Amino acid sequence: MLYMLDTADLEAIRHCNEFYPLAGVTTNPSIISKQKTDFWPLVEEIRAIIGPDKMLHVQTTQKQADGIVAEAKLLKERLGGNFYIKIPICEEGLKATMMLKEAGIPVTMTAIFTPAQALIAAKAGADFVAPYVNRLDNILSDGVSVVDDIVQLFNAHGIKTRVLAASFKNAEQVHKCALCGCHSVTITGDIMKTLISHPMVDTALANFDKDWKRAYGDKKILDF
Ligand code: E4P
Repeated sequence: MLYMLDTADLEAIRHCNEFYPLAGVTTNPSIISKQKTDFWPLVEEIRAIIGPDKMLHVQTTQKQADGIVAEAKLLKERLGGNFYIKIPICEEGLKATMMLKEAGIPVTMTAIFTPAQALIAAKAGADFVAPYVNRLDNILSDGVSVVDDIVQLFNAHGIKTRVLAASFKNAEQVHKCALCGCHSVTITGDIMKTLISHPMVDTALANFDKDWKRAYGDKKILDF
């Protein structure tokens, strides 16, 4: 299971990169525009924070295959490292995916809402497909079961494309994706924190401290 951060908030990226087993960062035009800052310094800073080995997924702003390929090449050249171009599913996007396969630039096909879309994206050569869980839940369409169907479909057909479940509102959606064998998720820093939080942890730690202090005061293991 790979955990990625779905944000361009530099503080959140710095924090999660330090404290969590982060596999990468994903963005889209809405996420980037929320930062209200220049594009290149922002994405270059994200790359600087996560380093060259972690994945950085940046979405194209082009609609035609040639433009998508040109943007992908420029982004890869300027951002370097482990880079993925995010392309929304559509005919031009599929064409661009096949062209990028030739050029050796990995693709995440995004805005996936059905298993049929995911399968065709995979056949075109997408390295990841990104189904939108919460947006499906919002229209009573059970996002986790769409993710589950895609995972089953890929397994049944021996497809190597990985599922990158996206668009989450809560930790339960994320965990249910993990349970159905989804390969990766992209989530906010808040959901990341929720995934490790539990009130019983706080109680357990308070009791360990209390028992230790009763016997050894403020001494720590390093003091013995
Ligand atoms: C990632 O690929 C998607 O762009 C993103 O997760 C969408 O999330 P949202 O539905 O919360 O906007």
